[in-house]
Amino acid sequence: MRPTLAPFPMTRLRRTRRTPALRALTCETTLSVGDLIWPIFVRDGTGVEEPIPSMPGVMRRSVDLAVKAAEEAAELGIPAICLFPYTDPSLKTDLCEEAWNPENLSNRTIRAIKAAVPEIAVMTDVALDPYNSNGHDGIVRDGIIVNDETVEALVRMALAQAEAGADILGPSDMMDGRIGAMRQALEGAGYSDVAIMSYAAKYASAFYGPFRDAVGASGALKGDKKTYQMDPANSDEALRLIERDLSEGADMVMVKPGMPYLDICRRVKDAFGAPTYAYQVSGEYAMLVAAAQNGWLDRQKVMMESLLSFKRAGCDGILTYFAPEAARVLRAG
Ligand code: PBG
Repeated sequence: MRPTLAPFPMTRLRRTRRTPALRALTCETTLSVGDLIWPIFVRDGTGVEEPIPSMPGVMRRSVDLAVKAAEEAAELGIPAICLFPYTDPSLKTDLCEEAWNPENLSNRTIRAIKAAVPEIAVMTDVALDPYNSNGHDGIVRDGIIVNDETVEALVRMALAQAEAGADILGPSDMMDGRIGAMRQALEGAGYSDVAIMSYAAKYASAFYGPFRDAVGASGALKGDKKTYQMDPANSDEALRLIERDLSEGADMVMVKPGMPYLDICRRVKDAFGAPTYAYQVSGEYAMLVAAAQNGWLDRQKVMMESLLSFKRAGCDGILTYFAPEAARVLRAG
């Protein structure tokens, strides 16, 4: 039980806030470079860095420059990068076959990065939306996102990514049963060391807008993703999803988006004690950067405060487009 506080003036809570030294001693949460995962957008070509208008400062990089980014991340001490391909519209089909092409952009990038910077952990996105003519994360038949057929496609995609050398697979599709199916397939194919970070509690959020621009899915998407992504009103359901994915063999779990869902992060960490991550998504990045560009917020301060808040909410790490910038701030002390 919590001891009762002595009444004022015996208790003066400002005593421990008086100096930097006392504040350092009573600080409860720390953010370090080791907590960061850097999402990177990849495109075709060589020597190309293409800005994404709705995410100022974020680029689509050709494979050679994605390798450079991975080198930069490693030098900064960032432990992992996460790849998102911008797929040429001509490669998008209704059955999403490009998703498990061993030579697709994502798999070529994994190989190139693992060859140049083997020490960095490469995380992937396992979902069909970059390859789908209708922009959905699953295969669509008669207007329905079909679960089990999608899971079979996701398993093929996951195996191709493991074969290319991915360290962490990130299923972001929200189909039922995909973690168990992937885990079994990975074991069967000799990839027992490949980790799965499940996007277990992923909400149908309006904060993904800029990302869909970045991967070229905005124009393609027909309808919304509410039959598979979660209702922002729900919280108990997040716990059931996390429990289900952990029981199917997920090693790490993610809550997404981040800042509007810190209550979910806290509940998940308290309930399961599993390695828990949050994705500070494209819209959160865009919102902070836009305010900073207007001179309304201090960019560096809100960036660091927002990242620290994930740690305070119980997360072990954060996927964030701010990763290299935050890493530089942390290294400068
Ligand atoms: C899709 C996917 C999305 C994001 C990561 N993977 C978008 C979506 O579900 O529509 C969003 C990331 C962001 O907004 O930064 N599989």
